[in-house]
Amino acid sequence: MSTDDLTSLRRRFREAYGCEPAGVWAAPGRVNLIGEHTDYNDGFVLPLALTRRCRIAAAPAAGRSSRVLSLQQEGIVEFDAASVTPEDVRGWAAYVAGMFWALGQRGLEVPELDMVLDSDVPVGAGLSSSAAIECATGAAATDLGSLELSPTELALTGQRCENDFVGAATGNMDQLASMHGKSGHLVFIDTRSLAVENVPFDLPAAGLALLVIDTCAPHALVDGQYAARRSACEQAAQTLGVQALRDVAPERLDDALARITDPTVQRRVRHVVTEDARVLQVVQHLRAGGDPRDIGPALTQSHASLRDDFEVTVPHLDVAVEAALQAGAYGARMTGGGFGGSAIALVEADAVDQVSQGVRQAYAEHGFAAPQIFPVVPADGAKRLD
Ligand code: GLA
Repeated sequence: MSTDDLTSLRRRFREAYGCEPAGVWAAPGRVNLIGEHTDYNDGFVLPLALTRRCRIAAAPAAGRSSRVLSLQQEGIVEFDAASVTPEDVRGWAAYVAGMFWALGQRGLEVPELDMVLDSDVPVGAGLSSSAAIECATGAAATDLGSLELSPTELALTGQRCENDFVGAATGNMDQLASMHGKSGHLVFIDTRSLAVENVPFDLPAAGLALLVIDTCAPHALVDGQYAARRSACEQAAQTLGVQALRDVAPERLDDALARITDPTVQRRVRHVVTEDARVLQVVQHLRAGGDPRDIGPALTQSHASLRDDFEVTVPHLDVAVEAALQAGAYGARMTGGGFGGSAIALVEADAVDQVSQGVRQAYAEHGFAAPQIFPVVPADGAKRLD
């Protein structure tokens, strides 16, 4: 970020609260390269943190309660960080207030803060704008409150905020990616053991680009559908007598499917088990220094599995993927929860315009509103900026 941005964030803080912020903290959004709908099955994920992030200027509160304003929203929201409960705050500020609540739930004494928030992670694009707010808030609160929490503990606190304060039953990928991102690297996470490994993914050095295609499609029925997928997976694990679908080895998949009667649930299981295998295959290839172009087919297979077996894509995502492939992408897939949001495409650096044009044209032909297309590179996770 430029000094100008930080200077203007500090100025907005002074205008709002009449004093200097004690510091500025930032946490990024993420895209998931591969490993979709595996995190709540104790499986493997391979996201990257983005350069787009949420920044929070903060200082110990001047009054008895906390205050937060967002440069992207109207008005100041006030809450007692020490005693806030899930019914008290709704909307965007719930990701801030909920973080203090979740820290309190860990038995920590949270500080009351005055905060100004500024984020360039697009909302509703499936790029974890909410995890960015949670992790930036958590970073500011732990620093200013002198709370001892590791990045992984802070990520899990963010997940708690999302699950029990905001009320979205998501897994732990988004917050772990936001905390553990590293420039030039992917974040390989075993969501059960919580082991995290940064795997090299230097796109410019390989002459490649990773495009995010924000479909700008309206999210429909997201919450209910996500919860339905999650409970189908949990029921299947119970039927199979395993703790989670992660425990079904790919070579035992056929046996497992034979023990499930419902064909829809069979497809859900097949997605999760094959997706975990694809993540491991991609990690192995990149760890060994293999050409990133070679992971293209795994990305495209992941999309087909999410479309046909897990059934979380929508026409906007399928058209983006199909058009990107036709225009020369090595691989493409939806990323995030699905039902809208974004797709990604791995392309030759000098084919960015060609692929973007191909997708825009396909959207126009389908009568869809124009997508937002932009390249991303892996960036650092949450940190203090100033
Ligand atoms: C959403 C959730 C994540 C994960 C993905 C699907 O982004 O927040 O925890 O489950 O969907 O992979």
